[in-house]
Amino acid sequence: MAKKNLKVCLGVSAILFIILAIITITLIFTVFKPKDPNIVVHIAPYNFLSPDIAPNITLPLVITMGNPNYGSFKFNNGFSYIHYHETIVGIVPIGSHLVPPRSQLNVSTNANFMVGKLIENPLFLAELPGMKFTMVSKAELPGKVIILKFIKVKSMVYNSCDISVNMTSNNVESNCQSKLKMFT
Ligand SMILES: *[C@@H]1O[C@H](CO)[C@@H](O)[C@H](O)[C@H]1NC(C)=O
Ligand SMILES: *[C@@H]1O[C@H](CO)[C@@H](O)[C@H](O)[C@H]1NC(C)=O
Ligand SMILES: *[C@@H]1O[C@H](CO)[C@@H](O)[C@H](O)[C@H]1NC(C)=O
Repeated sequence: MAKKNLKVCLGVSAILFIILAIITITLIFTVFKPKDPNIVVHIAPYNFLSPDIAPNITLPLVITMGNPNYGSFKFNNGFSYIHYHETIVGIVPIGSHLVPPRSQLNVSTNANFMVGKLIENPLFLAELPGMKFTMVSKAELPGKVIILKFIKVKSMVYNSCDISVNMTSNNVESNCQSKLKMFT
């Protein structure tokens, strides 16, 4: 008799658990509909026309990873590639990071920047009189959205930044867009 009660009890628990899981997952995709992360790249002023610049340099940069969601966001290791027109001129390694809910994290990294490839590009020479040029960085960052500590949904963040350099002031400005995709 006691055994039968235990079985009923376990059965009811399992059904309750499944119902709870369905409600939670429905809530995640409706009420808590995940918003795109806000990723911004900060690059300090840099003189790309310095006469003693090497063909390959290390360009320090800070990436602000903003998470507007009620769940945490786990980024795995990834790379961002900086393009000047069709040429890749920089590679930025981005380490693995956990961004807590509704907060932001500043991540310091270094771009391996191939200045040589940039300044020998005929398109770059054509932009010299205007003293400004624009590059585009593109990153695909795999990760997970973690809700209520135990629900983990695989995801991918697609980030793209327009990086414009003013060669008069050496100011580097970036304008970024990110898109979150979840895999269920
Ligand atoms: C610069 O870096 C690129 C890519 O990492 C490499 O292929 C090239 O040989 C390097 N050039 C110099 C001068 O170090
Ligand atoms: C991250 O860096 C940016 C720019 O330097 C700064 O405005 C922001 O307050 C920093 N955020 C955190 C959480 O340290
Ligand atoms: C570049 O910087 C110079 C000096 O600060 C400024 O006068 C100029 O307007 C800037 N150019 C652009 C395109 O922002």
